[in-house]
Amino acid sequence: MPQLTAAQQQVRVEFLQQVKDGRLDLSVAESSGLPNIAYTSADFFALEQHTVFRKNWVFAGFVHQLDRIGEMIPVEVAGQPIVLVMAEDGKIRAFHNVCQHRGAQLVTEPKRSKKFVCPNHSWSYSLEGKLIARPHFHGGEKHDINQAACHRADLSPVRCTTWHDWIFINISGDADPFESCIRPIEVRLDGYDFSALRFFESLQFDLQANWKLAVENFIEPYHVFSCHPWLNDFVGMDQRQPPEFDDKVLFCGYQFQKTDPVRGGALPWFPDLPKEKQDRGDWFVMFPNFAFEIFPDQVDVFIASPQGPQKTLETISLYFIGEGAKAEKYAQARDLIINNWTDLNHEDIGIIERMQRGRASDGFDGGVLSPYWDPVQRHFARLITRAISS
Ligand SMILES: [Fe+2]
Repeated sequence: MPQLTAAQQQVRVEFLQQVKDGRLDLSVAESSGLPNIAYTSADFFALEQHTVFRKNWVFAGFVHQLDRIGEMIPVEVAGQPIVLVMAEDGKIRAFHNVCQHRGAQLVTEPKRSKKFVCPNHSWSYSLEGKLIARPHFHGGEKHDINQAACHRADLSPVRCTTWHDWIFINISGDADPFESCIRPIEVRLDGYDFSALRFFESLQFDLQANWKLAVENFIEPYHVFSCHPWLNDFVGMDQRQPPEFDDKVLFCGYQFQKTDPVRGGALPWFPDLPKEKQDRGDWFVMFPNFAFEIFPDQVDVFIASPQGPQKTLETISLYFIGEGAKAEKYAQARDLIINNWTDLNHEDIGIIERMQRGRASDGFDGGVLSPYWDPVQRHFARLITRAISS
């Protein structure tokens, strides 16, 4: 395992000293959120990539991007180049996206190929990552491509799994089994037939803010009456419950009286949806940054991809049910939903970027939490602290 740099070690010591003040152990009313350093420091950002994003199951891409054998996409997770590929057996695999000869990045754009070929010296690898050619090697018989010694030149695999349309990887290889991480979400999705889900499109937004602020904002409904008053008309604050959590899963939801045009009112529903799900919206985060909402007629995935300590790329991917994703007669309804998510997200971005600017203030160091609404924020802070400590 790669070692922490001196700067990462130093920022870890500084961070752990700051959270040792009891802010995560006192009652929520007496607690604070994470200290400013967790949102502003480049060294902390690097430490977080090394711990939070290497040691957990992290979203890496979409299954629908890899629907034929040989399709491959380069992605970046935890600051590292990774390639996702559909191998000969139809399974999706992940490898470190680097040639084992001189370390060139192998794949730089989505494509379809029968093998990986490094442009540096044309060393080639099968879709299963096995070295299959190294031209002009002249290394003698013991370096023959079929010899066991050659295996150390195979591509380095990364632990990889899929769940519905989403690909997850765990770079360190020692996270808890994916099944146990996702279980708190799965038990709450009973009754939704995901086989009817169809990808529609993705929207992207640049945030001048740390990724954690986007996740923290996503999970809490406390800001709705103030930031999205029009959404408060759909479900009022007195009908909303505070978010809950179960280990690495955060979740929240509500029941509504009546669908509206962008939540269940205009597009086809999940087939045979049980009655108790017909007037429900739920949303989830799987730590660290995979989040989604589910309604009778749609699933909306939110990924807050860290780009820098104060820079995040947010992708919102919309899924509808059956012909709801394609039929022309639903085009207007889909446009309304896209406009809804775009407007809602711009309102959120405005407040998230203000929270980021507040993290530069000597007059703030984690804040005062609401004992009713914010236990989830404290839990998220604990998850970050646990990962940083590990
Ligand atoms: Fe919001």
